[in-house]
Amino acid sequence: MTRRGCFITLEGLDGAGKSTHLDWMAGWLRRAGLDLLCTREPGGTPLGESLRELVLHQSMDLRTETLLMFAARNEHWRTVIRPALDQGRWVLCDRYTDASFAYQGGGRELGPEPIRILEDWVQQGQGPDCTFLFDVPLAVARQRLQQGRESADRFEREGAAFFERTRQAYHARVAADPARFHVIDAQRGIADIRATLEEALQALLRAHHDRTPATRTGPTA
Ligand code: TMP
Repeated sequence: MTRRGCFITLEGLDGAGKSTHLDWMAGWLRRAGLDLLCTREPGGTPLGESLRELVLHQSMDLRTETLLMFAARNEHWRTVIRPALDQGRWVLCDRYTDASFAYQGGGRELGPEPIRILEDWVQQGQGPDCTFLFDVPLAVARQRLQQGRESADRFEREGAAFFERTRQAYHARVAADPARFHVIDAQRGIADIRATLEEALQALLRAHHDRTPATRTGPTA
């Protein structure tokens, strides 16, 4: 019997520095001997990457935006993430459904209910085992964004109030499911953040090995 892999997601406001940490975490997990799939949302499949282009750059109604996020997610979950987990691979995904709660539910003020319905329909009760939320004050995220990007997408062009609502919605997700989240103060120095991440990843490895039997040792009674 194959040990099911672990599903880890990374979240945070644009400009929170998530991508730098994602590369480092992927390297750490691979050095620990894991067969890792590193992926992202919206995206992660050929269809998902096409949808990503649309939602990031074409103006559309909020419901359309939300449905496209979930169309990409459904394809990603069913054809890539779930099969990988079933084969025992670990999955590190740059954003997942928490981003829909935060950006569409919070930032765009759709509220959590429609997201919950789509989440249930697409994921049927399955979601990440662990989520790292890279948290920075709004002013810091906006300053980093302005430094880093010449051509901003539809989300990056939003104003302070949008990102404040998005951040609040992320924190509401943490409050609703604190055991799943690691909230990382992403204002700290990189070495400090890496030490925290390493500790969390080590704990995750230990918990994963304790919880799931690797092989059947004999016939069950
Ligand atoms: P990225 O720049 O971190 O790859 O994310 C692309 C943008 O997509 C980011 O601004 C957040 C947004 N997004 C949503 O609005 N809803 C979602 O469900 C996801 C996955 C991303």
